[in-house]
Amino acid sequence: MKTPYRNSKLHKKIEAKREYLNQRIADDVERYGGEVIDSEEMRSAFEQTHHRWSTVGEHTIRVTVSSVMICYVLKKLHIKVNVPAVVVASLCHDLGMLGRYEKFSSGKECSREHPKESVAVARELVSDMPEKTEDIIERHMWPMGQAKAPNSIEGIVVSVADKYNAVKDLVKGSEVNHTGVKNYVHEKGKKIQQHIHEKQLR
Ligand SMILES: [Fe+2]
Ligand SMILES: [Fe+2]
Repeated sequence: MKTPYRNSKLHKKIEAKREYLNQRIADDVERYGGEVIDSEEMRSAFEQTHHRWSTVGEHTIRVTVSSVMICYVLKKLHIKVNVPAVVVASLCHDLGMLGRYEKFSSGKECSREHPKESVAVARELVSDMPEKTEDIIERHMWPMGQAKAPNSIEGIVVSVADKYNAVKDLVKGSEVNHTGVKNYVHEKGKKIQQHIHEKQLR
């Protein structure tokens, strides 16, 4: 009888590679973005609905994972890319949106103003901001609205990952289906691995 694909060597090899990749991403995110991950702002991000069925926190992790994966591909192609800047910018890009209903008078204002607010949050949280980070955050809404285009390869990476994952949020939603809100356990060390290993964040 033919071996089912699930038990095949090929499937096991692919799974092992995926696990290795997830661990590599989790380690890089923890290494460069630890201050953001451990912040109160990031905890609150998992309590604010975003893109209808998701949360700012889940969206943030999805954008970060995609951005880092794109960086690995670029590196394989011998294209230089600043991974710390991409990690910090991805993690902070929408944190300026927290408390949006008190802070902004309309969705339009939120969409236009939150990148600047996110830069301010990043300055508060990150002690040694990697070069280019502020520009990446400030321009991340491109190509939407009046946003300025990215001025670095890292900026393009984050902007593209952001749009891709906005669609993914709408399609896949939150871990808690149809509520848009997930209970986020702020457990030091484990949390980022957990999110990256969770299927819905891939
Ligand atoms: Fe945004
Ligand atoms: Fe975003």
